[in-house]
Amino acid sequence: MSEKSVLVTGACGEIGQALVQSLTKRGFRIVTADLAPLPETIKSLSAEHIQGDLVNRIKIFYDYDFDIIFHLAASLSSKAEVATEEAHRINVEGTMQLLMLAAYKSEKLQKPVKFLFPSSIAAYGFPDRDTKQAAGNVKEDEWNNPHTMYGCNKLYCEKLGVYYSRFYGQRHLDPNPPTMLDFRAIRFPGLVSAFTVPSGGTSDYGPEMLHSAAAGKPYACFVDAGTRIPFMAMPDAIKSLLMLMDAPRKSLTSQVYNIASFSLNAGEFRQRALAAFPSAQITFEPNPRRQGIVDSWPEDVDDSLARKDWGWKPDYDVDKFFNEYFLPEIKKRYQKPSTRTIE
Ligand code: SER
Repeated sequence: MSEKSVLVTGACGEIGQALVQSLTKRGFRIVTADLAPLPETIKSLSAEHIQGDLVNRIKIFYDYDFDIIFHLAASLSSKAEVATEEAHRINVEGTMQLLMLAAYKSEKLQKPVKFLFPSSIAAYGFPDRDTKQAAGNVKEDEWNNPHTMYGCNKLYCEKLGVYYSRFYGQRHLDPNPPTMLDFRAIRFPGLVSAFTVPSGGTSDYGPEMLHSAAAGKPYACFVDAGTRIPFMAMPDAIKSLLMLMDAPRKSLTSQVYNIASFSLNAGEFRQRALAAFPSAQITFEPNPRRQGIVDSWPEDVDDSLARKDWGWKPDYDVDKFFNEYFLPEIKKRYQKPSTRTIE
């Protein structure tokens, strides 16, 4: 079998860096793309790096025949609220250009290009915290009323993905429909990596708090202690992308899936951080805009569809996340020999 060719956009981001490392183990030929040069950690794993603005440079990508595209490049929720039109251009225009490319190549080569798209809990939107708390776990088709530019972009791009993979040009009505691309999306919770620190997102308070505590830096959390959303260990996020990539198409009853792992409020994050790093200085200084964004996101999501269709199950619950992933790794990163595990 010939080597599969994979494109990873946004390769310098948190998911990108972790994903490239995992894809390498599958023996794929990996082409990366990002505005920035690749970090040293993954430089040698990329066969080729296309640096620059995806929208402006889209023609370059037509020279390749990718079997699989992971389109991770995006402007995250907090950043997107301060540069809204730019975020729309990156998040929507960039995605549409790549979907068009995948649609064209699928039809031309008569082989469906797999298009893996990270969507987000930002696709949901609750009017207020009371409604959010009353709703509990949400299913994919509930509360799809995003409050942010980023959330609107993600929800719309899910729809665009479904459109280009099923209805583009109404080709599905042809007597002999052409081969269409194979679009698959996961709505991620807030992700926490022990190796990278996020930027531009609004779930960032979780990882920022933990990294600050480990590094011995004071941290003022921008949401209040009672704020709860779902989170997930980065290795589980990568696992989910690979599982969905591998799932036989016939077993998929949807093109958009929730996945869940654990849900913590910011006060519980603080307790966990203090248990591991007793001298950590963590205070709460809510920022009304960022608080409002997180209050519009669900407390947790219902991932039963992903469990049923492609066998999704996270490896890390909250205790395992801290004790077997985050703390041991973070201890090495910040050279803190005295970290303790959490019971
Ligand atoms: N982590 C993202 C953000 O905070 C949400 O998917 O923007």
